[in-house]
Amino acid sequence: MNMTPPILQVIIASTRPTRIGGAVGDWFLPIAESHDGFTVERVDLREMALPLLDEPNYPMQQQYEHAHTKRWSETIARGSAYVFVTPEYDFSPPASLLNAIQCLAKEWMYKPVGLLSYGGVSAGLRSATQLRVICTANSMMPLPGAVSIPFAGTLVNEETGVFTPDDVQGKAAVSMLDELVRWERALRTLRVG
Ligand SMILES: Cc1cc2nc3c(=O)[nH]c(=O)nc-3n(C[C@H](O)[C@H](O)[C@H](O)COP(=O)(O)O)c2cc1C
Repeated sequence: MNMTPPILQVIIASTRPTRIGGAVGDWFLPIAESHDGFTVERVDLREMALPLLDEPNYPMQQQYEHAHTKRWSETIARGSAYVFVTPEYDFSPPASLLNAIQCLAKEWMYKPVGLLSYGGVSAGLRSATQLRVICTANSMMPLPGAVSIPFAGTLVNEETGVFTPDDVQGKAAVSMLDELVRWERALRTLRVG
């Protein structure tokens, strides 16, 4: 019996040089790591540096020609669940995340997604709502329970760069992780074969 916990990938979507997304991810990561359901990996789209989709074949064919897409495919394929740490740009998810999703297809299928969104007064909810449609188009299961953080920029310490939301967000993060564990188990049957 394989006792290794499945891999949860925490995907930092923002690639801006002055982003707060890295700090938001760094707040969530220890919560995920102390949750015993998963082995946790940090995946940073800024480090991945994917160009806009430049493969000649459809992602569904998985015939990738470029090293960056092969690396991205191998990364996402080993994940069994994801958390998208996403800002809201123009009421939408950032282009970096859309592109990263659309560069692949099968690698995402039948895996649950937790949405950790942040923004101004809207807490990134319009971004998260659009992501629900995009996730289901790729046979991912976006969880109903999410973490939604308003006025996120005000929660970053100017000197240390550390992001500190209140306890409500920490509790929402744990609930989301609990649900990710349940859905990951349930979806395993669909990922066989
Ligand atoms: C191009 C752009 C568009 C934005 N549009 C929105 C928006 O529609 N709603 C919102 O709440 N905040 C919006 N913002 C503010 C971002 O939520 C805020 O800057 C946040 O810190 C961005 O995340 P990041 O720093 O991790 O990139 C926008 C920011 C940028 C750069």
